[in-house]
Amino acid sequence: MEIRAALVGCGAMSAAWLEAASRIPGLAIVGLADIDAERAKARAAQFSLDEAVIARDVGALIAASRPDVLLDVVVPAARHDVVSAGLEAGCHVLSEKPMAESMEQARDLVRRARAAGRIHAVVQNRRYVSGVRRIGRALRTGLIGEVGSAHADFFLAPHFGGFREEMDHVLLLDMAIHAFDALRCMTGLNSVAVYCREWNPPHSWYRQGSSAAAVFELEGGAAFVYRGSWCAAGLGTSWECAWRFVGSKGALTWDGADGIRIEVVGSEPRNGLFDSVAPVDPPALSPEDRIGGHFGVLSDFIAAVRAGGDPETAGHDNIRSLAMALGAIASAEVGRRVEIAI
Ligand SMILES: NC(=O)c1ccc[n+]([C@@H]2O[C@H](COP(=O)([O-])OP(=O)(O)OC[C@H]3O[C@@H](n4cnc5c(N)ncnc54)[C@H](O)[C@@H]3O)[C@@H](O)[C@H]2O)c1
Repeated sequence: MEIRAALVGCGAMSAAWLEAASRIPGLAIVGLADIDAERAKARAAQFSLDEAVIARDVGALIAASRPDVLLDVVVPAARHDVVSAGLEAGCHVLSEKPMAESMEQARDLVRRARAAGRIHAVVQNRRYVSGVRRIGRALRTGLIGEVGSAHADFFLAPHFGGFREEMDHVLLLDMAIHAFDALRCMTGLNSVAVYCREWNPPHSWYRQGSSAAAVFELEGGAAFVYRGSWCAAGLGTSWECAWRFVGSKGALTWDGADGIRIEVVGSEPRNGLFDSVAPVDPPALSPEDRIGGHFGVLSDFIAAVRAGGDPETAGHDNIRSLAMALGAIASAEVGRRVEIAI
């Protein structure tokens, strides 16, 4: 069965979506929309979508192209209206992150998807990174024992221009959400409370919230410590963060690329103050791991549209990752620990 898809928001990220869509058999892009119609036309030309409807808003796009699925790649401020319009028209919707700008909006979208009986899922493409899948398996199989803490560092200095340099809480809402979702994916743990401090150093080219440090309390008593900055030139980390997991039997580090290292307490006698430790090979990628970034997310979403059921990043689950970002923001605003409620 051919699936008809329409994409709204033809800015920078839309190229990765259209490239991924072009590799999925039976998925046809039947329309493109952007408030700047020239952008929609340019993407149609770039991907040879000669028959695609070109529109300026989501309503006109849906009316003219009658899609089964709506692909939402608009700026975060327009997301709630766009997703609501898609669900109301009976479309399954795959949305860019963050899934909403507030918990009220996110809860409302989850309710709307349930009422419409349609899939609403979010692009959390970091789950579809090989390292995240391999670490998830290492932790689930108990290689380092019970996880007591996880630590993620993110230090980069991109000059994006556009909406990011103007938005509130740019690091936590636009970028750290990836690390928070990856943490949930790798450990299987949700967060119950957070204390966060956010700042914007004098040299920052962002309007607000380019840097943050947050300590999350996780289910079962573990902690997650996130430190990040988006105006930190030099000695940059990977886009996926640099990670350390501390377990009851040992530790795992990940450089955010190919470097996963594990050391566990060994069988040799204690040497002075310290237990002996021995390296352990990290698990290889397994054939059932779904990877491939945007392509992986879109493939799972389309498979769920065809077969029914929920994809991994369904909104009713992804709201827990958003709640970490919005909980950290709330804590930074009030200057104290806040509990995370879904
Ligand atoms: N998952 C990832 O790795 C990743 C990476 C980058 C960006 N993103 C997300 O993708 C989304 C888009 O980011 P971008 O970098 O492409 O931004 P962008 O500003 O380059 O593009 C957004 C486009 O949406 C259009 N738009 C805004 N409101 C609209 C509306 N109501 N109707 C139709 N079009 C509208 C704008 O004109 C613009 O062309 C954001 O939510 C961002 O956080 C995700």
